Amino acid sequence: MTSPLASCTSRSLLNTGWIFREGFDPAWITLPLPGGTVRLPHNAVDLPWNYGNETAYQQPFTYQRIFHWEDRFADKEVVLCFEGAMAATKVWVNGQLVADHADGYTPFEARLTDHLEEGENLITIAIDGSEDGDIPPFGGRIDYLTYAGIYRDVWLEVRPAITIENVKVEILDPMAETITAKVKVWLSNPQGQPVAGAILLDRLDQHGDPIGDPVGFPLISDEGEAELVLGNGFARWSPNNPVLHTYEVTYKAEDGQDSMTLRLGIRKAEFRPDGFFLNEQPLKIMGLNRHQSFPHVGYALGPEAQAQDADILKYELGVNLVRTSHYPQSKAFLERCDEIGLLVFEEIPGWQHIGGEAFKDRSVKNVEAMIRRDWNHPSIVLWGVRINESPDDNAFYERTNAVARALDPTRQTGGVRCITDSQLLEDVYTMNDFVLGEEHLPEFLQSRINRPRTPLRDQREVTGLTEIVPYLVTEYNGHMYPTKIFDGEERQEEHVLRHLEVLDAAHADPHIAGSIGWCMVDYNTHADFGSGDRICYHGVMTMGRAPKFAAMAYASQGFSASERPILEPATHWSFGDRKVGGVFPLVILTNCDAVTFHYGHDEPLTFLPAFSRFPYLPHPPVIIEATDIPEDKRIVWGQSWRDGLFTGLVSGQTVIERRFVADPMPTALEIDVAPLIRAQDAYQDRMVRLTARDQAGNRLPFLMDQIAITVDGPAILQGPTTAPMIGGVGAFWVRVLGDEPVTVDVQTASGVFAPQTVTLDG
Ligand code: GAL
Repeated sequence: MTSPLASCTSRSLLNTGWIFREGFDPAWITLPLPGGTVRLPHNAVDLPWNYGNETAYQQPFTYQRIFHWEDRFADKEVVLCFEGAMAATKVWVNGQLVADHADGYTPFEARLTDHLEEGENLITIAIDGSEDGDIPPFGGRIDYLTYAGIYRDVWLEVRPAITIENVKVEILDPMAETITAKVKVWLSNPQGQPVAGAILLDRLDQHGDPIGDPVGFPLISDEGEAELVLGNGFARWSPNNPVLHTYEVTYKAEDGQDSMTLRLGIRKAEFRPDGFFLNEQPLKIMGLNRHQSFPHVGYALGPEAQAQDADILKYELGVNLVRTSHYPQSKAFLERCDEIGLLVFEEIPGWQHIGGEAFKDRSVKNVEAMIRRDWNHPSIVLWGVRINESPDDNAFYERTNAVARALDPTRQTGGVRCITDSQLLEDVYTMNDFVLGEEHLPEFLQSRINRPRTPLRDQREVTGLTEIVPYLVTEYNGHMYPTKIFDGEERQEEHVLRHLEVLDAAHADPHIAGSIGWCMVDYNTHADFGSGDRICYHGVMTMGRAPKFAAMAYASQGFSASERPILEPATHWSFGDRKVGGVFPLVILTNCDAVTFHYGHDEPLTFLPAFSRFPYLPHPPVIIEATDIPEDKRIVWGQSWRDGLFTGLVSGQTVIERRFVADPMPTALEIDVAPLIRAQDAYQDRMVRLTARDQAGNRLPFLMDQIAITVDGPAILQGPTTAPMIGGVGAFWVRVLGDEPVTVDVQTASGVFAPQTVTLDG
């Protein structure tokens, strides 16, 4: 026998060469299927933009691959690592079942080692996209889609007999000058080889060279832990300074070694009755919920596109936290949250429904799988250990809480509910508070009859407790006020105001740690939800990640004018879109001190933010009422409509300007290729966004068109070759497969814009 540790793990993507078939037949376990191949991440059934039939993917599918023996496999562990496949997955190699995983969101492995033969081996994978009631979130109704397929990366790992399976680093006191960590290591040792070595932690600089001497401890069994002094003078991780420290963790024995790298962020995160504290400083949480879905291809976009969403949340929307509603999301997304300083509330799969014992056991396993995968991410500040919005079930939730606390004593638990007086088994009462707008509902749907318009409830009304507890609002708005990017401006204005009112209320109440709006982007959903076209228009952005006005409700709070001046009048600037006409009252989302408004050639009028209406917002909007316009300047139906000019002032200086033209016409098609985040990856799913602009550079809010997309170079368009442009915006994603530049031709069906070519490169 060769040494168990002759070399370190080698890792390569196994995303290509998969034959894909609808259905599954047990005979296929050993029968090589003919046909073309697909590339992972893969969506079993692509859906149209809207009006898609979600039952199309609720069935079995088969993936198959011929796997060629390589000499380097001899005496090695050979393992397939799946980052995620929806929903129930079974893997066979040469007819032997090697993996059986009943969750669509957590990783799993298939150990091929003992079943491989020299020459050709047959790997068959059956995945079942049906809504099996024993697997969360299934069994009831769900307001989102669970697209079937092997939708994340698959890796081939060739490992020595003993490898590092997992490492957990618990920083004992993140506020101390000298940082001490409890380091726990689990080895993978499927052959049961004797363990006699040591764990060493090397801190690395940005070039990958060790800083100082390693620290470590001896290891003589498959698990071990020790308290290690990591050193002094570590910069602490925070949203403004997301500093990560890279470590190489090595298991070193006489005859070899295995290593992995991990990144640590040193920070203290705590929900207290008086709010959320990061590194002992109060931080009001302003977050959004995120689904991991995309148009047409569902979940099946790779790390680049997933990470891009984190950048959008942080840099375009200005929020400081994301909730991974309602399941663990991709590693790439979380890695990016660590890198850019975006806090995360991660939760287990589920939606309102609690199933039987098998379902509950699976949920408890999901808590464990989520925490074991993600415990080293500094961005994660709370574990969600309830099925979203489920009723109380104390026995069940005592189990999920106990597992979370045993695995990770450094983080608090939450569990999202929409019910009041729920038993608080968690550390934080996390509540979806949809009270705003309920005054318009029939009495049987109101939480209290004749309550005036109220953005958020007092926490004691929700919890039913007399004492104040750590409390976080985890959803609001959403279905209470669905709003499309091409809706009329009165609806959009109300959409904006509702988001602002909740943010103001959350900022006002020191007993509310913060609020997480529903939600980041519109999403495809089941027929029981949404606007009838299988879309919930609940996002502050479209499915193509184009901002609605409400997006700027967040950005105007999240950024200071010196970081990024915001001046977004929530108007389509037309005389006749509102009832009766005009653009007033006009809500202007801004972080400036004051805004001036010129109408036509009239003298500018200056307006201050609406401090009295929104006393607690960091940056209240400016609101211009029709009566603020001098009487002789007011416009009525039949008069000529004129240009408008807005300027944003900081300390009396103009920092931003927005001009609106009275006669907007399609003038330019802006094509925005998202900057590359993960250049190191073998492929990237690049986002391309299109915006139709008028003479003044404003989006044409009612432009509807169709774009034809042609991709040239080593790349694959993700989705159909035509994409809709709705409300003046469109988007598509291109999978770039190498270092060669890829060109993309874009042509609008109407011909209103000249055809354009963009190049996707680093
Ligand atoms: C909540 C639910 C979300 C979404 C939202 C729409 O009840 O947790 O998943 O459906 O409503 O407002």
